[in-house]
Amino acid sequence: MIYLTRRERFSAAHKLYREEWSDEKNEEVFGKCSNPNWHGHNYVLYVTVNGDVDPETGFVMNLKKMKKIITEHIIDKVDHKNLNLDVDFMKDKMPSTENIAIEIFKILEPVFKEKKVNLHSVRLHETENNFVEYFGK
Ligand code: NI
Repeated sequence: MIYLTRRERFSAAHKLYREEWSDEKNEEVFGKCSNPNWHGHNYVLYVTVNGDVDPETGFVMNLKKMKKIITEHIIDKVDHKNLNLDVDFMKDKMPSTENIAIEIFKILEPVFKEKKVNLHSVRLHETENNFVEYFGK
């Protein structure tokens, strides 16, 4: 079993805010991410698949195909978008790094499965210092 990771990047705006809370409570819980007039992050996404090496190609998966899948299903939908307003798969969800990574995993897992490839993890960096990693459960 070998693991293969592809990195992609996207920039997106968001706001972490609960309408039913006061501005003070939102600021206390979400900090700068609660700014009412939005702000952005340069996200870095690592998608890892695993499997056996194909004896003909020497690959777990062709990276060109992997890039195409991630670009079409995720990057094109989130890059330069507002995660609260523009992105269907984040509708009615708090756009925290955790929730974005979970939704990305849910979208990609069946797409890779169709290609007979197992999605191992989705790792999403919101800043240089903060990232989450999701393994599907
Ligand atoms: Ni933020």
